[in-house]
Amino acid sequence: MRKVISFTLNGYNVSAEVESHKMLLEVLREHFELTGPKEGCGQGECGACTVLVDGYNVNSCIYPAFEVDGKSVVTVEGLLREGNKLHPIQQSFVENGGVQCGFCTPGMIMSAAALLNENKDPSEEEIKRAISGNLCRCTGYVQIVESIKKAAEMI
Ligand code: FES
Ligand code: FES
Repeated sequence: MRKVISFTLNGYNVSAEVESHKMLLEVLREHFELTGPKEGCGQGECGACTVLVDGYNVNSCIYPAFEVDGKSVVTVEGLLREGNKLHPIQQSFVENGGVQCGFCTPGMIMSAAALLNENKDPSEEEIKRAISGNLCRCTGYVQIVESIKKAAEMI
């Protein structure tokens, strides 16, 4: 079955005709050519595909595209400020060594964005809990937690 879905993507009204078995990640990467969200496991385990749907972080690899009809989706590209200026979370990851190979980074940043939307001054424990669904094979997480702490201060 195919259906036209309409939603807000990074602040723009968009629509796409998608098949019922398509997941949001495929639609974002293939139809809208947004390659920020990554496919790691494809099974909801690693968080590389994390985006915001109505402000909450979801694993877009297992989120049916049909479900975003009428909702708001934000990817890591959508955090950029006017003039392609980095969002404070993005800037903080760059400045505090939160990025190594970068594969997990878009997902980590979106989980951090969901946390900071709800909690402007999270504790270290709350940060660790917020990114517990995001795996990183490079950094050992210390710099990522530090990046999110500093981002909260910047915001
Ligand atoms: S690619 Fe979606 S959770 Fe791993
Ligand atoms: S920076 Fe390489 S997986 Fe996290």
